[in-house]
Amino acid sequence: MSLRGKAVLITGGGTGVGKGIAKHLGALGAKVAICSRKNEILQATVAELQGAGIQAIAQECDIRDPAAVEATAAWVLEQYGRLDVLVNNAAGNFPALIADLSYNGFKTVVDIDLNGTFNMSKACYEAWFKNHGGNIVNISAPFEGAGIPYQAHAAAAKAGVNSLTRTCAVEWRKQGIRVNAIEPGAVDNTAGVDRLAAPLTGSTLADVAPCTPTDIAKAVEFLVSDDAVFINGQCIAVDSGTGVDLLKLNL
Ligand code: HXC
Repeated sequence: MSLRGKAVLITGGGTGVGKGIAKHLGALGAKVAICSRKNEILQATVAELQGAGIQAIAQECDIRDPAAVEATAAWVLEQYGRLDVLVNNAAGNFPALIADLSYNGFKTVVDIDLNGTFNMSKACYEAWFKNHGGNIVNISAPFEGAGIPYQAHAAAAKAGVNSLTRTCAVEWRKQGIRVNAIEPGAVDNTAGVDRLAAPLTGSTLADVAPCTPTDIAKAVEFLVSDDAVFINGQCIAVDSGTGVDLLKLNL
């Protein structure tokens, strides 16, 4: 129960990786708050978490909207009286080659993934972290430094998330705030992988046994723990080595 008494906010916490993080941190004693755009899904997840003995609450929030994001940060503080961990997990995605990607399609994914991460980080900083310290973990992607067909929008956004991770860490470290990112590879049974499966068929990524949301959650657990007190501004791949497999020989 290493997170007993701590409060965590997870964006996109109703499904997939976010839900896995909520379950895992909740099982370690954290009070969990989740938000996303779909209230029905949030309520079902809250019921599931509560059924497992986890203290959990949910609020609808579109992280593209700064006013909604500020209201969500205020709501967590009102409900739990503190905020120890923010996990920026919410993301939008669909596979599309640049030739088939509309201006608005590109903008939509960047707005959710990058601007949404900025919005929530800043809102929580202003509302709590700047005076109390805390941990932010951004769920990014192992896309930086490469060309990623079908993922121009998401790859650009996630590279921005990595950059933002480093800058937040540097600007905020003296206030006791650590900001790190996790770059998951393929995670089983998630919307992202289900949607990307077809274009990825035949690639090394498709051949690797996918990890589970719990594998990602365990990395979050470590990063927000005191064992990681000197880890700050890092973007860590949790991808079974697919990102560093440059030759793709499938050994
Ligand atoms: C081409 C598409 C499209 C598609 C949407 N658009 N889906 N273009 N192919 N499949 C375009 C629309 O035509 C529109 O542009 C613009 O995007 C906005 O679409 P809306 O539906 O109006 O926007 P909105 O409802 O706000 O959001 C759409 C969405 C969202 C971004 C697709 O519904 C979403 O993200 N859903 C899935 C969530 C998800 O899978 N999350 C996991 C992410 S995984 P026009 O020009 O027509 O107006 C991840 C990491 C993966 O991030 C790593 C794997 C290795």
